[in-house]
Amino acid sequence: MRRAIFPGSFDPPTNGHLDIIRRSAPLFDEMIVSVLNNPDKKPMFSPDERCEMIREVLPSVETGACTISVESFEGLTAEFARRREAGAIIRGIRAVADYEYELRMALMNRRLEPSIETVFLMAGEEFSYVSSTLMKQVFLLGGRVEGLIPDLVEKRMRAKKT
Ligand code: PNS
Repeated sequence: MRRAIFPGSFDPPTNGHLDIIRRSAPLFDEMIVSVLNNPDKKPMFSPDERCEMIREVLPSVETGACTISVESFEGLTAEFARRREAGAIIRGIRAVADYEYELRMALMNRRLEPSIETVFLMAGEEFSYVSSTLMKQVFLLGGRVEGLIPDLVEKRMRAKKT
């Protein structure tokens, strides 16, 4: 059984995240989309809201035979992966700017849990500039984000704004 976790903040989930789920699904039998609950941060959406949005948009993603579940977690990603008996941590790389941070994280996670590999996938080039932070910023300032986040997520963001 090849099980992976796909950890992130997902505040909010973007089409870039869905692209990584679609691309990594054929490589694994099971994937846990793992939403970090970081009590030190003030997110736009609570961990439960983020999990719920991901669950709602997942049916639109072609995931073949891979079973996908969504869970929130606190603390170390490597520790969560170990507890869930995952062999891999999936991360998406958009541009070269992501590389340094991702490399540091992957090496630290490997030090913490040597048996768990980080698997990097290249995001589709149409999502190379899409990040949750940028989406929130553009949306809150009245810019258009259609096509970059799922419609349902945009609706939830609109509801938060009013
Ligand atoms: O979506 P993000 O914000 O890029 O995801 C970053 C995330 C959640 C994967 C990273 O911050 C993380 O793993 N946080 C949990 C705490 C942890 O394990 N820190 C050490 C990583 S080396």
